[in-house]
Amino acid sequence: MNILEACNLTKKYGDFTAVESIDFYIKEGEIFGFLGPNGAGKTTTINMLTGLARITSGFIRLSGTDYTRRIKKAQHLMGIVPDESNLYEELGGFQNLSFCAALYGMERSKREERAWQLLKQFGLAEAGKKPFRSFSKGMKRKLTIAAGIIHEPKILFLDESTTGIDVVSARQIRKLILELNEKETAIFLTTHYIEEAERLCHRVAFIVDGKIVRIGTIEELMKDMRNYYLKPPIY
Ligand SMILES: Nc1ncnc2c1ncn2[C@@H]1O[C@H](COP(=O)(O)OP(=O)(O)OP(=O)(O)O)[C@@H](O)[C@H]1O
Ligand SMILES: [Mg+2]
Repeated sequence: MNILEACNLTKKYGDFTAVESIDFYIKEGEIFGFLGPNGAGKTTTINMLTGLARITSGFIRLSGTDYTRRIKKAQHLMGIVPDESNLYEELGGFQNLSFCAALYGMERSKREERAWQLLKQFGLAEAGKKPFRSFSKGMKRKLTIAAGIIHEPKILFLDESTTGIDVVSARQIRKLILELNEKETAIFLTTHYIEEAERLCHRVAFIVDGKIVRIGTIEELMKDMRNYYLKPPIY
């Protein structure tokens, strides 16, 4: 069963086509990587899939149901971790998580229990009471992931979750991603790093200038992608 199907998905900004007629599916419990250079259309695709950007044309199905024009109605199924955190700087770690849980309609006792459970799981128990603005970049990223899974979504969208953070924090985040996936959460992740896709993803799509140029298993695609990235620059 596919948790997500995108058919002919297109996003135009005026005359400019940021994403052009892309097709792909993600199976339940799969880690699907979206690889591509800056400006390729990765964030735009996530924004369409999660209802943050209006779809110009195409279809989106989640768990077999067409949600194209009503993606907000599918938000209980999905968690979103944007490249820039969407949490409140002045609220503490625990407050931020409780607030997100409340937005998803979880009852108070359940949301507090879940917030503490995630803070502990993500190694942020100590930071739970401190304001988000005092967090390091890696801590911010981890709390933003925790907020994205507070309601136990069936699919999690991660936009460059390890970009710009140190090696140790990046490794912790990759471990958390794999642990989440063991619990059957499907993951759609964007990355610039081939090695990261190689380590984490079951299948990968490679997007360039708004078009998917390759899609398949890591083994099928690695060779092609390496060639693309290693091509000498043209001056
Ligand atoms: N709101 C917008 N208005 C106009 N153009 C936009 C808008 N948002 C994105 N674009 C354009 O769409 C293209 C794709 O951008 P997008 O942010 O999806 O790329 P990306 O693959 O996520 O890149 P990066 O790796 O740098 O995050 C870019 O050319 C960008 O300038
Ligand atoms: Mg982006």
